Amino acid sequence: MKVLLVGAGGRESAIAEALVNSGAKLYVVSKHVNPGIKKLAQEYGLAKETDIGKVLDFALNWGIDLAFIGPEAPLEKGIVDILEENGIPTVGPSREAAQLETNKAFARQIMEKYKIPGRKLFKVFNDAKEMSDWIDEFGKPVVVKPLGLTGGKGVKVVGYQLKDNEEAKDYAKKLIEKDGKVLIEERTDGVEFTFQVFTDGKEIFPMPLAQDYPHAYDGDVGPITGGMGSYSCENHYLPFVTKEDYEKALNTLKKTIKAMRKEGIPYKGILYGQFMLAKDEPKIIEFNARFGDPEAMNVLPILETPLLEIAQGIVDGALKKAKFQEKATVVKYIAPKGYPENPIRGVQIQVNEAKIREAGAKIYYASIDENLTLLGSRALAIVGIADSIEEAEKIASQGIKHVKGEIFYRRDVGTKESIEKRVRIMKELRGE
Ligand code: GLY
Repeated sequence: MKVLLVGAGGRESAIAEALVNSGAKLYVVSKHVNPGIKKLAQEYGLAKETDIGKVLDFALNWGIDLAFIGPEAPLEKGIVDILEENGIPTVGPSREAAQLETNKAFARQIMEKYKIPGRKLFKVFNDAKEMSDWIDEFGKPVVVKPLGLTGGKGVKVVGYQLKDNEEAKDYAKKLIEKDGKVLIEERTDGVEFTFQVFTDGKEIFPMPLAQDYPHAYDGDVGPITGGMGSYSCENHYLPFVTKEDYEKALNTLKKTIKAMRKEGIPYKGILYGQFMLAKDEPKIIEFNARFGDPEAMNVLPILETPLLEIAQGIVDGALKKAKFQEKATVVKYIAPKGYPENPIRGVQIQVNEAKIREAGAKIYYASIDENLTLLGSRALAIVGIADSIEEAEKIASQGIKHVKGEIFYRRDVGTKESIEKRVRIMKELRGE
């Protein structure tokens, strides 16, 4: 079967590998040539992922049977609708359904309308005075969010990127001036985790939980990035998430899919719940309409059910199963020095693939070209997979030694110390 993959980051590298391993003939369109994906692909077309006309031309010329969309930007542009109108079944939500990610007010309103658990108190404003009065009256720390896609960089939280509610009001006012609207939410304290599921619009199959490290530097400091690494555990839970928390979070995702169906906007593909585990329950911070990056690299290498079978189940509305190996995983992303604010670009790095594999680790290339020249975003990821998180972390750390150049990475992703810190925060919050 000829499968089109759109996108070529680390996430798409993991999707590409899982598709090829399950028998797909891979065809790729993306804005740069990813050296790892290139080796797996029959054909490779260069175009912006959001240039839907070009993507469609490639797909029709190649005679594609099924498409798989990696990133969110083409979903927002309606790539799934266009490909399907042209007879190509596609894994990913329609433009309308993708609003769960691309329009934060839509997602909150669906949760409110259907009383889906895990909601946060929120308000959407288009008037700066009303916004300011509401924040004053609310009196507790808030989160300020632009409504649309921001690559994870537009959300600002009081106590983190914003000093106090006064700064929040100033930032919210700027967003109203720029976008016409802003979303203000209550701040929820706790520990974040990622819950991804496959869905055909009716059935839901969970993937192992993962935890992302969004800050640039060790110790959870520095600017917010796309994610500097992530880990998952052999039992598919996380050390600070109880079975009850897990069931509650799964229920939130199930109810969301059900609500979308009732709303007449069925959602199919991958749904990513970014949860904050608060004192009382997991609360939705955001939905994403695709795999996480890096979290796709935690779950796909340990997927036992062939991804192609899952993809067909999703597009046929007949999803039957998604099983994963009981393995722990640690993903460490390597980024150019200066990332995310002022990344070095155009400089070559050295990657000793043979030594990395000898260390037992996997390599997924991302924002890097065929000559191993840095393109400015996260360049490649090294992944350790083992029976325990300690072992997986060791493998990833061994592998990463064989990448040299103007780069940096977070040494603490998946380490005992950093995981214990998260467990401690949760225990303190719950008074245990
Ligand atoms: N790791 C965060 C994201 O994929 O959005």
